[in-house]
Amino acid sequence: MVATSALLGVAACLVPALLAAPADVDARGGGISIVEACHQQFGSTWAAAHSGEGKYDWYCVNSSNGNTGGVNLNDYCARTYGGGSVAVNGGGLWDWRCT
Ligand SMILES: *[C@@H]1O[C@H](CO)[C@@H](O)[C@H](O)[C@H]1NC(C)=O
Repeated sequence: MVATSALLGVAACLVPALLAAPADVDARGGGISIVEACHQQFGSTWAAAHSGEGKYDWYCVNSSNGNTGGVNLNDYCARTYGGGSVAVNGGGLWDWRCT
């Protein structure tokens, strides 16, 4: 189900290499910005990162102190496009969009 599947897990540990290029995410994903979702949920010092290449591998990281947290893309879609909008995935890491 989309509502639960789009709530990504909290990454257990931080991979420093991901901080070097936290995300070239804004240009992709067709209407969804995972960086912006992280900003909305946690604050402007947070960036998006991914622990692997799977669609559920996104998480947010506080670039100031390295803390991590899960990203809720349904919440992002609702805030950005209105209450009826939810996050859907077309298959892979880069294939998130809002309805
Ligand atoms: C992010 O890290 C900074 C620096 O440690 C801290 O002041 C801030 O509270 C952190 N933000 C969140 C949402 O944890």
